[in-house]
Amino acid sequence: MTKIIVALAGDGIGPEIMSAGLQVLATIAKKIGFDYQVKEKAFGGAGIDAVGHPLPTDTLAAAKSADAILLAAIGGPQYDQAPVRPEQGLLAIRKELKLYANIRPVKIFESLAHLSPLKAERIAGVDFVMVRELTGGIYFGDHILEDRKAQDINDYSAEEIERILRRAFEIARGRRKLVTSIDKQNVLATSKLWRKVADQVAKDYPDVTLEHQLVDSAAMLMITRPAHFDVLVTENLFGDILSDEASVLPGTLGVMPSASHSSDGPSLYEPIHGSAPDIAGKGIANPVSMILSVAMMLRESFGEYEAANRIEKAVDKAFKKGILTADLGGKASTQEMTEAIMKQL
Ligand code: NAD
Ligand code: IPM
Ligand code: MN
Repeated sequence: MTKIIVALAGDGIGPEIMSAGLQVLATIAKKIGFDYQVKEKAFGGAGIDAVGHPLPTDTLAAAKSADAILLAAIGGPQYDQAPVRPEQGLLAIRKELKLYANIRPVKIFESLAHLSPLKAERIAGVDFVMVRELTGGIYFGDHILEDRKAQDINDYSAEEIERILRRAFEIARGRRKLVTSIDKQNVLATSKLWRKVADQVAKDYPDVTLEHQLVDSAAMLMITRPAHFDVLVTENLFGDILSDEASVLPGTLGVMPSASHSSDGPSLYEPIHGSAPDIAGKGIANPVSMILSVAMMLRESFGEYEAANRIEKAVDKAFKKGILTADLGGKASTQEMTEAIMKQL
């Protein structure tokens, strides 16, 4: 049956990297006989331009009835004063689709290891997954802004913590069986609850080791001994910050994909980075974050493991040939990088 894929290109470099992702999808689909249809919808700043809202009604309806959603990036300085900002559209679609589990893999391509700002011996063997809680915490508590006072409420229920912890343990079972739960339990009540629930959930996974780490020292360890980690699990805000930090390991945000899952409905796949307004429109954005998000979609939504592996290998091979975009010190344009990857497919 034809799979319906909703594509939300968004803003800034969004349309440039979405085009790259869809070209690669078309190439691999032809090779493996994957039958799909893309529905492009307005989202983010593009939604504001089209209908005055970052998450238009028909975009949300299409996303809800899709088999999977691809999202490139949203936001930009021109929308910073909008009554409803693009970022609110992003949070709304995550909440509406109940995408509580955000999976952000961090793996260093062999071909890129020498480009990491970290020493080769630190980078060797780095392969971990960040599991970020995506529909709770301080992002979704009340935000109160007064003239001389402001407040953001961080709240978590035990149920919200438990389901994301279970995801992390399940993922760890298929890997090196180490879960590092990251919190700030020396200060925050939400973190005290987080740690208690983590210890309870761990009892159901005796084959998996659970360790706890405070978020400040975790940020340091991610750079000093990144190869130690297997599965990291943490609340929404810490996960946001730590995953951008993790992009320093491969050397750029431009190679970082993600998957967001609910308990039943369609999953959403997007790079972890933003709309990169500083390079938008120049045709030089790294498309690999989007292309690897397409690979994650093929694997996790459609069970097309072989196709996903082939895309990842093609990216590595293109890098090995020295085809690199500017963020990695190269000269390739977005389209040249994309074509080099399609050639390897
Ligand atoms: P950003 O992630 O857009 O960019 C940070 C830096 O990384 C910039 O120098 C940018 O050029 C570079 N970069 C990012 N992606 C790249 C790529 N594919 N290739 C090459 N270089 C790349 O973060 P920012 O500048 O802080 O935010 C810009 C806008 O994006 C803001 O409006 C923010 O709210 C939004 N944002 C959106 C998302 C999303 O759509 N999921 C995520 C993060 C930020
Ligand atoms: C991300 C982004 C978003 C977040 C912003 C744009 C709301 O930074 O996807 O990591 O903070 O979740
Ligand atoms: Mn972020």
